[in-house]
Order: sequence, then C-alpha cells, then structure tokens
Amino acid sequence: MAEIIPSILSADFARLAVDIARVEQTGIRMLHIDVMDGHFVPNLTLGPPVLKSIRKVTKLTLDVHLMIEDPDKFAPLFIEAGADQISIHQEACRHLDRTIRMIQSKGARAGVVLNPATPIQTLDDVLAIVDYVLIMSVNPGFEAQQFIPNALNKIRELAVRRKTLGLQFPIEIDGGINLENLGDVIRAGCDWVVAGSSVFHSDDPATTVTRMQQIAKSAESVFV
Ligand code: DX5
Ligand code: ZN
Repeated sequence: MAEIIPSILSADFARLAVDIARVEQTGIRMLHIDVMDGHFVPNLTLGPPVLKSIRKVTKLTLDVHLMIEDPDKFAPLFIEAGADQISIHQEACRHLDRTIRMIQSKGARAGVVLNPATPIQTLDDVLAIVDYVLIMSVNPGFEAQQFIPNALNKIRELAVRRKTLGLQFPIEIDGGINLENLGDVIRAGCDWVVAGSSVFHSDDPATTVTRMQQIAKSAESVFV
C-alpha cells in the first residue's frame, strides 16, 4: 500500500518527540525531515545534531530531504546522524551519478528530487541506480503551499518510464497534499506521499494520518 509520510516541518520543533509519537501510533513506517540551507531554498531548518536527537526517539525510517547547495559535503553528516535515506535535488548536483553512489556507499538509500520546473527526462541516465524519485508538487522551501497539478502528469510519465525500463523504484511526492487531492496523487501512481501541514496543523494528527491511509487504500483498490 502507498505510504503516508508525515513531514515534521509542520510539527512543533520545541516538542518534536511528542508530535512524532502522536503520528507513530498510526502504523506509519517513515518520517520526512526537511533540511534547508537558506541558499538552495529561501528558508532554514535543521542540521545533523537535531536529526541525531530525532534518531534517539523513534525507530521510524528517517527520510531526509536535502534542500541544500552542497549535498556532497553534508549528506555523510546526516547519514552519520541517523538518516536511513537521503534525497538530493537534481538541480543542486553537478555530478549526480557520483553523489547517488556516494550516499549508497555510506549505507543509506539515495533518492533524487525534481523541482516543479525540472523535467523527468533529466533523470534518464540515473534511473537504473536510484533507490527512489521524489517529485516536488510545490517549489521547495515552505510548508502549506498550494499543490501544482502538473506534478500529476510527471508522476504518470515517470511511472510509465519505470515500467518500460523494468525498474522498481518507489515514486514519492512532496508538497500541498491534503485529504482532497490525495486520491488523485495515488491514482497517478505515487507510492510514497509526504504530508506536512495537512497532518500537523489538523486538530488530531493521528486521526488525519489514519484517514489518509484509508483514502490511499481505496484509491489503490480501483486498480487491483
Ligand atoms: C517543502 C517541503 C515539504 C513540506 C511539505 O519544501 O519539502 O516536505 O514539509 O509541507 P506541506 O505538506 O504543508 O506542503
Ligand atoms: Zn520535503
């Protein structure tokens, strides 16, 4: 079944352990952690010490999304701090193949992220080695932005490409996902769905995640 992955960007940073424990009880397997450097995106979030503290309070797979200019320098530090998987932006990597392999050689899964304006064809020559692909459905940098519908076309296109090539990598989506558009995203072919504000700004984050898991399940059953 498609995975719902809460993004802690919308959680309360002063009580992260509490907010993580709240959503953990829903049976989620992953947690999305947004790292921003104030250069690649116009916002700042957290570094390896915070990730290390998060690692101590949860066994969930830590899905670290690097929105930074120098992923080669910092990815190893996040892996050391407890990241299970690291996604890097195609737009930030001069030697994408090398960076993917470097992350994998340090024992983490490597994903590649595409901004809304970056075509999926730019990944043609690395699709065979990536562990997952993340399609941004907002311009990265902030929570609670509006979903860009063209992301659905990109997901469909990528899902076809994956099938044609006989590959298996999961397709992840990030940005502006809510209870209303989740079904469309799943039907387009998404395997992993990141949700920040729609989860943590709701009255009861656990109930919202459970509702999202139900929507994902019924959207998928249309195709089985
Ligand atoms: C945006 C981040 C997202 C963010 C999504 O740059 O990469 O992970 O947490 O937040 P929502 O779900 O509120 O758009
Ligand atoms: Zn993200």
